[in-house]
This record gives sequence, structure tokens and C-alpha cells, in this order.
Amino acid sequence: MCGIIGFAGKGNASTVLLKGLSKLEYRGYDSAGITLLENNRFSTYKTTKRIESLKSKIDSEGEIGIGHTRWATHGAPTAENAHPHLSENGKFAVVHNGIIENYQELKSELIGEGFTFKSETDTEVIPQLLEKYYNGDIKEAVLKTVSRLKGAFALGILCLDYPDMIVGVKNFSPLIIGIGESQNLIASDILALRKNAEKTLSLEDGEIVLLTSSDAVIYSFNGIKITRRTQELNQTLADSEKGEYPHFMLKEIMEQPDAIRRALSGRVVEGEIYFENSGLTAERLKNINLIQIAACGSAYHAALVGKYILEELLRIPVLADHASEFRYRNPVVDEKTLTVVISQSGETADTLAALKEAKRRGSYTLAIVNVPESTIAKAADEVLLTNAGPEIAVATTKGYTTQLCLLYLLAIKMASLLDTADKKYILSLIKELNLIPQKISKCLKLEADIAEKSRLITEAKSVFFIGRNIDYATSLEAGLKLKEISYIHSESYPSGELKHGTISLIEEGTPVFALCCYEKLLEKQLSNIKEVTARGGKVICCVTENNPICDSELGINFAVPETDPLFTAVLEVIPFQLLAYYTALHKGLDIDKPRNLAKSVTVE
Ligand code: G6P
Repeated sequence: MCGIIGFAGKGNASTVLLKGLSKLEYRGYDSAGITLLENNRFSTYKTTKRIESLKSKIDSEGEIGIGHTRWATHGAPTAENAHPHLSENGKFAVVHNGIIENYQELKSELIGEGFTFKSETDTEVIPQLLEKYYNGDIKEAVLKTVSRLKGAFALGILCLDYPDMIVGVKNFSPLIIGIGESQNLIASDILALRKNAEKTLSLEDGEIVLLTSSDAVIYSFNGIKITRRTQELNQTLADSEKGEYPHFMLKEIMEQPDAIRRALSGRVVEGEIYFENSGLTAERLKNINLIQIAACGSAYHAALVGKYILEELLRIPVLADHASEFRYRNPVVDEKTLTVVISQSGETADTLAALKEAKRRGSYTLAIVNVPESTIAKAADEVLLTNAGPEIAVATTKGYTTQLCLLYLLAIKMASLLDTADKKYILSLIKELNLIPQKISKCLKLEADIAEKSRLITEAKSVFFIGRNIDYATSLEAGLKLKEISYIHSESYPSGELKHGTISLIEEGTPVFALCCYEKLLEKQLSNIKEVTARGGKVICCVTENNPICDSELGINFAVPETDPLFTAVLEVIPFQLLAYYTALHKGLDIDKPRNLAKSVTVE
């Protein structure tokens, strides 16, 4: 989704901004722009194509500037709607992430006062308000402007009268300050700061920063100066090169054994699970009568897997909700509820709102997050970091599997604290968990086979995925992966539900992937498979190795290693990640940046 970069230094602004924008590309965008401030004038460049195409348009370096990648919300992805937006008198240039909810009202007011608008965006009211409130003092104009705005916003602002300054604003949209040597930056994503900043300075909601090449001064929205310490920039997390791989997605798929080793590292010690600074004590858990999980996209699919496992091990009811639904359904959540939110980026607007809603209702909140500096990580009562490392491809892979591992750890830890599962069984689960990385390496060896099988569906109009129990939750993720990057319509269905409607879509040759790793329900799954083949469906099964029933009864299949029934999802999803990747590759699509999608969804 939208990205912001701002640079205050000594020359080379356009080079730094373009590099920063290319680091933000992975978030998803449909237009981009840059404004440079040089010799008392702005030079603005925009594109509705890739960042690459901006480079050829820019003919100066500039000392200071702001840049933006836009993911259209208000108005089509045109050059007029691309940021930066300028005030009517040309004195202010603004980039914005988020949504100004009261922009219509502000726009009417400004039009009534004689201002004219060039774009359909909500953003354009901001430079106009700055012009309206400016009396020679930028800080005052910014504070008056933000006091009029409702909604979530992060801003980067330039003013012609302040040729060495950028103003950054943060209110419920991500923005970080990067401190370098004789140069300072603002960015909506830590990855855009890499190599230009050694340290970061956090900006909280309701704060602005006046940034020059040598200084960063923070004020609250009510004008009070704030002193805050810098922190070392986590360069590991900021490491985001493709290396030998053609796409980030393939790199991230292949990194999964290591990512999962990191997720487990230090948390499994002598048959017990340890979480850093955990508030999950037996005392707290004894009062819990409901576990509520909220998340979006693939993280929601992880939540569904988590529901099966937590209920199985704890015998406490677990609800898994789309965060966007949870926040508006007046949920029955109170101090006896443990709320778990899951988010790779830690910035998803709906997930953050769900977390806040649960907190407001008195629930203890635990966040499973990949990015330690993220807003969700800061807002939750307790954080479990997945330690997956930076994930750049829009379609999540290692982000998702490490979330599953954290849910496994959480379920086992809670079962031990509450004494709800047999001790020997707990020990066997822990032992099995340690084997997951090497079993994933084995799944990755299916690459060539799956690459070949993906040719069976390259031309398909629609593909189905069916499964029961944990296989059903996994089928949702398998189906999402395929549609996200190959643009093939897919439906994921609980196998037993197929005959209640969807089976009418099965005809001669329709590809149906049957997920058969949850072996407790294998007989039932086989009956459902037969219902599909009887109607001409072309069934391809994912089974576990050494499964005699599957070997003898099924035609096309591929096998993943055996594991405990509770852990099947983390292995079974791997061939489907590869399937989506190779299908999109055969179709020649933009795998890492699929159309219309954003990596980090910071609007609701
Ligand atoms: C976007 C991404 C998905 C991701 C979802 C939730 O839609 O494209 O891959 O699962 O957001 O993101 P989060 O960062 O909260 O896990």
C-alpha cells in the first residue's frame, strides 16, 4: 500500500528518494511521484508506471525532497492523483498515507474560500489547509492543519520558505525517522531507510517532526517538545536483497527451514516452551474462558489453523475472525478473554483496530508479529516475534509458516501451564516441532515435480481446493496463494460441504486439489474425492508419505513427510506455495508485485 520517503541531506536527494521508493515497491502501488526542493523552487515528477520510469524524467539531484508510492483509494491511479500534491500557491508539497475521513467537508469549506482542486484525492485538502493557516511559521501551520484532520495519516511536507526542512507527521499510519551522517530521513517502512541511516528515532501517533540534515525535533500535536532517544537500526531486518533468486517469493519459500529455526530458537529448552517477558502465567490463564483470534489475509488462515490446535489442546473455545469483521460485530470479549492478533507487518489497519477494540473491552492482548518496530508490536500487552526476517513478496510464505509455528508454541505452552494435555504427549509434540525445519526442507525437494504439475492448471479458469479440519484451513491458504499471484479463480471448500452447492461447478476436467494430510478424517475425505471424480473432476491429492490408502486409490498425487496431526498445515502448505509460484511463472506474471494487491494494508 502507499509508501512515504523523505530526505534532508547535502545533495543527492533524487538518488536516495528513488532508491527508497524502489524499496517501497513491494508494498504494492499503482503510481508514484517525487518533489525536489532546489534553488527556491519545487520540481515534481510523477508516473503511473513503475518507479524505474521516474528515473529518466528526473534531471536534477536536489538537496531535499519527498517521494511517494500510491495505492489508489480516492480517485483513479492517474498522474493528477499521484502524490506529491501542491498547495494552490505552490508553497507546500505533501505526500500522505492513510485516509482523511472528513476530506469532503474540508474540501467544500476550502472551495467556498476560493481554493481550487486539481485531483480527486482526499490528500489535496492538506496542502491547501497548510496554505490557509501559514503565517510564516511552518510548525504552527502544520499543527493547525492536523487539528482539522480526522482519520489515519502519515505525512511528509515541504515548504519553499524552509529550504532545508521536511516535516513528518504521524497519526495511526506508520512513519519512522532515520538518522544518518549529515542526512536524515522519514519513511513509512524501515526497509527504505537501509544504508542511508544508522539509527532510528520513533515518532508516535499525534506527533510531528521538524527534520533537517543535522536535527530532528519532535512536537506533540499540542505543541509540546518531546525528547526521545535514538535506537540502532536493525540492519538484519532491513536486509532485503534477492540474491541468486529470480523472485523474492521463491527466495522466501526456500528460506523457510531457516526462518522456522529462528522462530523456534531459544523458545524450546529442555522440553519446555519459553517466551521472552511473558505475562502468560497459569494464574492469568486460569481465568480465561475464551480465546479470540483476529487477523487478515493469510494471517487469518493461520488463525484458523490455530483454532483447531488450541481447542484440541486446551478445551477452551476459540473464535477466529477476520479483523475487519471482528472490530464491528460488537464482540463478546472481556477480561476473561485472551485476544491474539496475528500480523506479519504489524501495521494492518484492521488488525490494529481489532487489538485496540479487544483492549478497550478489558482483554489481555497478545500479538504474533514479524516486525518488532511495528505499531501492533508496540500496542499489544505481549508480543511474540516470528523472526521470519524481511518478507518482500506480496504473497506471504515464510511469514505465514512462522506464524503457524508461534501458534504451535503458544498452544503447547498454554496446555502445559493449564495441565490440559498429557505430559508425554506434550513432550512428543515439542520433539516433533524441532523436526519441522528439516521436514520443510524435504517438502522443498518437491519443487521440480510441482513445477511440472503446475502446467496442468496454467490454462484453468477455475481451481478448487478441498479439505477437512486442519486440511480445510490449509486449503484456504493454498487457494489464496494461487489466486493472488496467478489470477486464476480458486475456491477452497470444506470437503463435506462441497455437495451443498459448489459441486455444481465441477465438470469434466475441472482441477480439484484434495488436501489429505489430516489422516484422522482420511476415509471421509476419500468419499468426497470420489464424489468429485464421479463428475469428471481431475483430482490431485496432497498426501503424507507412506500412506498406503492414498498410494493405491489415488492417481496423481504428491507427498509431504509425516508429522503429528496437529502440525500438518506447516508442511502441507509448502507444495501449494510452489504451485502458485510456478503457475504464475508459466503465465509470465509479476510474481512479487501482483496487480491491485498491497503487502501492508494500512487502510481499513
Ligand atoms: C495483505 C497481504 C497478505 C497478508 C495480509 C495481512 O493482504 O497481501 O499477504 O496476509 O495483508 O497482512 P499482515 O501484515 O497483517 O500479516
